Amino acid sequence: MQNQPHFSSEHFYSGRFAVAPMLDWTTRHCRYFHRQFTKHTLLYTEMVTAPAIIHAKYDHLDFDLAENPVALQLGGSDPAQLKHCAELAEQRGYTEINLNVGCPSDRVQNGMFGACLMAKADLVAECVSAMQSAVKIPVTVKTRIGIDDLDSYDFLCDFIEKVSATGCQDFIVHARKAWLSGLSPKENREIPPLDYQRVYQLKRDFPHLWISINGGIKTVEEITAHLQHVDGVMVGREAYQNPSLLGQIDQALFDKTAPIITAVEAVNNMLPYIEQQLSQGVYLNHIVRHMLGAFQQCKGARQWRRHLSENAHKPGAGIEVVETALGFIEL
Ligand SMILES: Cc1cc2nc3c(=O)[nH]c(=O)nc-3n(C[C@H](O)[C@H](O)[C@H](O)COP(=O)(O)O)c2cc1C
Repeated sequence: MQNQPHFSSEHFYSGRFAVAPMLDWTTRHCRYFHRQFTKHTLLYTEMVTAPAIIHAKYDHLDFDLAENPVALQLGGSDPAQLKHCAELAEQRGYTEINLNVGCPSDRVQNGMFGACLMAKADLVAECVSAMQSAVKIPVTVKTRIGIDDLDSYDFLCDFIEKVSATGCQDFIVHARKAWLSGLSPKENREIPPLDYQRVYQLKRDFPHLWISINGGIKTVEEITAHLQHVDGVMVGREAYQNPSLLGQIDQALFDKTAPIITAVEAVNNMLPYIEQQLSQGVYLNHIVRHMLGAFQQCKGARQWRRHLSENAHKPGAGIEVVETALGFIEL
């Protein structure tokens, strides 16, 4: 589906496909690994709350520019705090700022951020306006199709209309509602049914907006089918658990001449980075725990996982653990 690019052409293309923000999963090491598979995919950070950045015990915004394009996902509902964090993120070189209006965890509701903000469209609009006033990079919103009993299509349209009136043109919509009480975050990713048609309808009714779809998408074929109806696709769990999917994306979606990147290539390309991180005192396990799913379709995948799981956490574990694990893979 063609849409007028409203950002730089780089963002326009990146926005066609993204790896979702996932707490504890899409860390900087994970993103560096994913970047070895795909140049063009937009990678999201885990959600970082505005208060955590402001009262930082450590540098939450630290990342390697080689991970770009990266969108920083912020959690919060205080316009001044979010504005300040957006400014910092732009200075640090992030490609995009995204506001989390989709995460249903209790912790998040108490702090007034995440999915509960769907019921407060005016406040979300205020937050987005504040961030936009401070930065030139795009400010985008990730949301659900509804929360609790606020799940009509009219409710969703009203939310999108109010927030887009600020000038926000880019929405990523997880195609299921969230129950704010009674379901765990994990259950909220599985139990409420997916409704892709609702997201397609949103694109038809707001043709000037950049609408990306998210939820339960697993294959290149599914991704290209969704792109007939919406502007972008975001994949979460499948990209993490089976990162080889990402090796096909550049060729399938961005550049027919781009090579397909295999997991062996991606792992080999990680080795210099791993050595550099180890030399700075990072534990091997903090990096390789994101690489366990690399070889899902290969013989030796189980030994790969087992060797890493049993050895990468040991004191002094080094690059040889990865090299030995790689030796189990039969191509
Ligand atoms: C472990 C995990 C952590 C997540 N953390 C976040 C988060 O920090 N912010 C967010 O907006 N969504 C978060 N999500 C939701 C994903 O971004 C995505 O919307 C959801 O998994 C549905 O996409 P999928 O079916 O492709 O996985 C998380 C999902 C998982 C599995």
